[in-house]
Amino acid sequence: MGKSSAYITAIILFLVMVVGFTYWLSTTEEHAGGNEASHGEQAEEGGGEEGGDSAGGGEAEKVFAQNCASCHGENLGGGAGPALEAVGGKYSKDEILDIIKNGKGGGMPAGLIQGEEAEMVAAWLAEKK
Ligand code: HEC
Repeated sequence: MGKSSAYITAIILFLVMVVGFTYWLSTTEEHAGGNEASHGEQAEEGGGEEGGDSAGGGEAEKVFAQNCASCHGENLGGGAGPALEAVGGKYSKDEILDIIKNGKGGGMPAGLIQGEEAEMVAAWLAEKK
């Protein structure tokens, strides 16, 4: 009798450890995932001129360079279109998204970029203050 109850205790202990370990793994995985994501972003941004800014800046910059820079300048300095260096101080992300989707005035074409790209560029520009 004594032996089998010790055996059962051992099994229970083992199960508790497995559950605990699984839980621990799932929390550390979450953290690791988060870190990976931010490392990815940082790596992408490493080449950019402005190290400090946030999520997807590198990608947004590329999309901007391909679709918008012809009028707004490579460095947001303006050209055929107005400078956008401080556009984030003037408009929110949603307002910029609206301009991207619907155009503005006579010169700003509507719908040059869509969906995720538009979201990304709008968020990126909204940080230019
Ligand atoms: C064909 C030239 C052209 C292209 C390409 C272009 N824009 Fe514009 N954009 C303009 C002009 C011109 C204005 C000014 C419109 C007005 O105020 O009447 C403008 C205005 C804006 C404004 C508002 C600026 C302000 O201070 O009011 C934003 C934001 C903007 N553009 C973003 C973009 C983004 C993002 C892209 C790329 C997806 C882009 N533009 C591509 C010509 C262009």
